[in-house]
Amino acid sequence: MSSVSNPAQVGTVEATIAAGINIALVKYWGKAPGTDNRPAVGSLSLTLDAPGTVTRVAFDPALAADTFRLNEAEADLRPVTRLLDEVRALAGIATRARVESRNTVPTAAGLASSASGFAALGLAAWQAAGLGRAGDPLDRRLVDLVRRGSGSAPRSLLGGFACIDVETAGVHPVTAAPGLEVSLVVALCADGPKSVSSRDGMALCAETSPYYPAWVESHPADLRAAEAAIGAGDFTALGEVMEHSTMKMHACMLASRPPLRYWAAGTLAALEALVPLRRDGRAYTTMDAGPHVKALCRREDEAAVADALRPVARAVLIARPGPAAHATTWDAGAR
Ligand code: DP6
Repeated sequence: MSSVSNPAQVGTVEATIAAGINIALVKYWGKAPGTDNRPAVGSLSLTLDAPGTVTRVAFDPALAADTFRLNEAEADLRPVTRLLDEVRALAGIATRARVESRNTVPTAAGLASSASGFAALGLAAWQAAGLGRAGDPLDRRLVDLVRRGSGSAPRSLLGGFACIDVETAGVHPVTAAPGLEVSLVVALCADGPKSVSSRDGMALCAETSPYYPAWVESHPADLRAAEAAIGAGDFTALGEVMEHSTMKMHACMLASRPPLRYWAAGTLAALEALVPLRRDGRAYTTMDAGPHVKALCRREDEAAVADALRPVARAVLIARPGPAAHATTWDAGAR
C-alpha cells in the first residue's frame, strides 16, 4: 500500500473496537525460545460476553506524538506505541495516534485484561490504518501483532471457544456441539493487583520448576481432549480436562523457586464453597495467574453456582460465551 493513498496520511481516521476477556480452559503457560512471544504450549479458551475493553484509535496528522488514556487517565504509552509502530510500518504511514481505552476488567488482578486490551487495540489500529475492515477473515499478521502484546490476546479476536495451535501459533475457532450451552461464573476472591506478572512467572517456572518439562510434554493431550469434548458436547469431559490443566499449571508454579503462588485465602474458600456442586459434576473450576476462581457450568446451573460463591467472594459475575472483537461506537460502552 502506498503511503500517499493511505487515508491516515491525509486526515484523521479512526476505529473503535470492543473485545471481551477470555478465560483459558486449557492453559497457556510458558514461552517458546525467541523474542516473538510465541507460546511453548497451545491453549483453548472461552471469550466472554463481559467484561472487556473498548478502544478507539485515531490516526491524526495534527499529532506530534502518540497519546494513550485508559479509563480517563494518562497510562503507560510504551506497549501502545510499540504496537502502533508495527501497524505504521505495515501500512506505510508515519501518522501518530490518539488512543483511548475503557476497561471494565479489574486491571492486572489476574482476570486477563491484557488479552481484551491488546485484541481491541490491535484490531482498532489495524482498521484505522486501513489494513482491514470489520468482518474480514483474520489476517495472520494481525494475530502475530496482538500476540506480541500478550500471548492470550489472539484468543480474544475470536468469539466463543478459541484454540491457539502450538506449532503454528495461529488461532482458530472451535465449534461447540449445539447442545453445549455453558456459563462461566467468575468469583473475585481478593483485592489488588497480582504480585508477579504472567511474563515473569512463566520465566521463573521454566527456569526453576522441575515439573515444567512434564507440563509441556503432557499438554497436547489435554488440548486434544478439550477440542473433542467441545465438538461432542461433552460437558463433563470438558470440565474435567479444564480442571486437570489448571491444577497441573498451578502445581508447576508451586514447584518453582521461590514458589509461585497466585492463590489467596479467598481462592480456597471459593473452591470449598463449590465442593458439593463439583461432586455432582455441575461445576468445574479454573484459576489463572491470580486469585480469582472461575467456575464452568451448564447454563441451567449458573444461578446455583453464583449463589454458592456469593457468601465467600468479593463479587460474583455470571458470564456467557461472547462475540469476536468487533466494531462499535465509543459511546456504546464495554458490553
Ligand atoms: C495463566 O497472555 O497474560 O492466564 O504472553 O506474557 O502477556 P503474556 O502472558 P498472558 O498469560 C496468560 C496466562 C494464563 C493462562 C491463559 O490465559 O492461557
